[in-house]
Amino acid sequence: MRIDVVTIFPEFFDVLDISLLGKARQTGLLDVTAHNLREFTHDRHRTVDDTPYGGGAGMVMKPEPWGEALDTILGPTDAADPVTGTGAPVVIFPSPAGEVFTQKMARELAGREHLVFGCGRYEGIDQRVFEHAATRAEVRLVSIGDYVLNGGEVAVMAMIEAIGRLIPGVVGNPESLVEESHEDGLLEYPSYTKPAQWRGLEVPPVLLSGNHGAIDRWRREQQLERTRRVRPDLLPPGAGDPA
Ligand code: ADE
Repeated sequence: MRIDVVTIFPEFFDVLDISLLGKARQTGLLDVTAHNLREFTHDRHRTVDDTPYGGGAGMVMKPEPWGEALDTILGPTDAADPVTGTGAPVVIFPSPAGEVFTQKMARELAGREHLVFGCGRYEGIDQRVFEHAATRAEVRLVSIGDYVLNGGEVAVMAMIEAIGRLIPGVVGNPESLVEESHEDGLLEYPSYTKPAQWRGLEVPPVLLSGNHGAIDRWRREQQLERTRRVRPDLLPPGAGDPA
């Protein structure tokens, strides 16, 4: 998968050199490039923002550097089918005003060949950047949660990690992806390892029983109980009711 990130802080993405995603980059499963938006300016101060039309607090990111950055990354448009052609890129702008990022979205995006992330700062990006990008690629505004960050970089790091680990071959044991929170719509069950007793706390006896049917049932109950208690919004109506 190819990932391009446009940001005024490309160093932010240096940490992608480490851990599982770093290995995926070394082995060629993941090709990530962070582009400095300021490289697409032409003035002495490398200006990327200006005051908002209509007034108001803060600064808005200027359209011209964004237009040039996206032209460079997206290349010539496929005139026959600019948006949905095979391997058409998806351009994602992290924004607290976007649709909420979920495991389902991570899975969808992990199946695409080319993702472009555009990190806004200040009060956001001139709206015409989104409109223009939509003429040549699928554009999505995506929020990682109902809170406000200073810019899109942290949100993009979170999305790259969630998407990257779903690319086949990135996580060594694919089974570990199956039994985790959100994959089956529920939160994951609690895990234990040796020793069986630690600081007076015991591992639930069923996990030591060797009875795999009972262990599966216990784990399912734990998932349901935890989801009902912490995230009842995830349960379909009736699914969390006690049997
Ligand atoms: N930029 C600022 N806040 C954000 C959020 N919650 N999600 C995605 N991008 C953001």
